Amino acid sequence: MVNAQQSTAAARTFPKNFLWGSATAAYQIEGAATEDGRTPSIWDTYARTPGRVRNGDTGDIATDHYHRWREDVALMSELGLGAYRFSLAWPRIQPTGRGPAVQRGLDFYRRLVDELLDKGIQPVATLYHWDLPQDLEDAGGWPERATAERFAEYASLAAEALGDRVKTWTTLNEPWCSAFLGYGSGVHAPGRTDPVAALRAAHHLNLGHGLAVQALRDRLPADAQCSVTLNIHHVRPLTGSEADAEAVRRIDALANRVFTGPMLQGAYPEDLLKDTASLTDWSFVQDGDLGRIHQPLDFLGVNYYTPTVVSEADGTGTHNADGHGNSAHSPWPGADNVAFHQPPGERTAMGWAIDASGLYDLLRRLASDFPGLPLVITENGAAFDDYADPLGQVNDPARIAYVRDHLAAVHRAITDGVDVRGYFLWSLLDNFEWAHGYSKRFGAVYVDYPTGKRIPKASARWYSEVARTGVLPA
Ligand code: NOJ
Repeated sequence: MVNAQQSTAAARTFPKNFLWGSATAAYQIEGAATEDGRTPSIWDTYARTPGRVRNGDTGDIATDHYHRWREDVALMSELGLGAYRFSLAWPRIQPTGRGPAVQRGLDFYRRLVDELLDKGIQPVATLYHWDLPQDLEDAGGWPERATAERFAEYASLAAEALGDRVKTWTTLNEPWCSAFLGYGSGVHAPGRTDPVAALRAAHHLNLGHGLAVQALRDRLPADAQCSVTLNIHHVRPLTGSEADAEAVRRIDALANRVFTGPMLQGAYPEDLLKDTASLTDWSFVQDGDLGRIHQPLDFLGVNYYTPTVVSEADGTGTHNADGHGNSAHSPWPGADNVAFHQPPGERTAMGWAIDASGLYDLLRRLASDFPGLPLVITENGAAFDDYADPLGQVNDPARIAYVRDHLAAVHRAITDGVDVRGYFLWSLLDNFEWAHGYSKRFGAVYVDYPTGKRIPKASARWYSEVARTGVLPA
């Protein structure tokens, strides 16, 4: 007979090959903004524009990972992590977004990957985590088709240089943010506020993804894995009314199905085209595009932080619930009749409601909508107002509780038959949190910005134990 405690522990054991990792992104951690031939990306320009980023923070120095990468890999190794998800900086590899690769830029990633492999940590490379070379934005950016073509060329250069050592690739990170925060509400770079440009950007990000997968497959060994990371919104209705169900449908189309439709099913959803018909006829979608976008993927990367609660607009709630910054412009083209609501209960320092059941529900839905497609949680985590105490320690029990509850949700989904292959904690380090600058700390490792010193938080030690054992304590 097993006692209750044993059975709980047994119930929380993750599959043997489950990947335990942490995630970062180039602009958020690297710094060295002008070194080794790197030119400005749209985020350099945006961050240098007064009023865009809190406190005028920029990624010029960030966590100085470009110089401290060896120390950061050592930290991961000490924590016993099995995988590391990072992004390649396009403006480091191909500064103007055109032409041959800069070897010094590639060398940085070659050294990083070699060190990871040496320590037994699996590298997972993201090609695009929002740092479009400024020259390409000057030529029109993601609303233009040429940007998708340039992206595929850059993907080829990256695969040729790193394909011998990186086996797991992701094309885009959260294209919803690139399109709708970057070109719709303007709270992300390049800060444009044009709903039609946002929809055009969404299509050309989709196209860029498809072309990049083709470019990767042409150059990578047969056992390489290709994926995309989406911040699938778990959208819930405020009430059981039909009008609120309609609001859910609309936002689900604009947040999720605008990407999963073409990428995973080869078509834009009819309802999305109808909902946005007063803005555009979608004639920027050319013959053959959907076939190019619809490429077989080895897994889908899922980023989840908080659910999205919506209702029919009735004077309550707001029309702008992205939680990433304030703007008079909505990131939801054509959805003026939808209101967003903050669910009651505990929140993180971002103001985001803590609700692990949203992750469980989301995983169940993805498994039923896309049977046979493995899932990886490519980001999950929380910002809290962490500080080093007089003994130099950082205690973050709220983050431990957040991660524990979300891992329990992942475990429950796996038990119920969902094929989840891994979990990447956002983030390894405190870093540049986009429009919030350095004011929000997501790291398992605390960064003392004036000195660059790294201090593993209590959550890092806790997560390390889970990663090493593959068991979530009760
Ligand atoms: C998603 C993004 O991919 C990442 O860059 C960001 O820091 C986290 N969410 C937290 O907002």
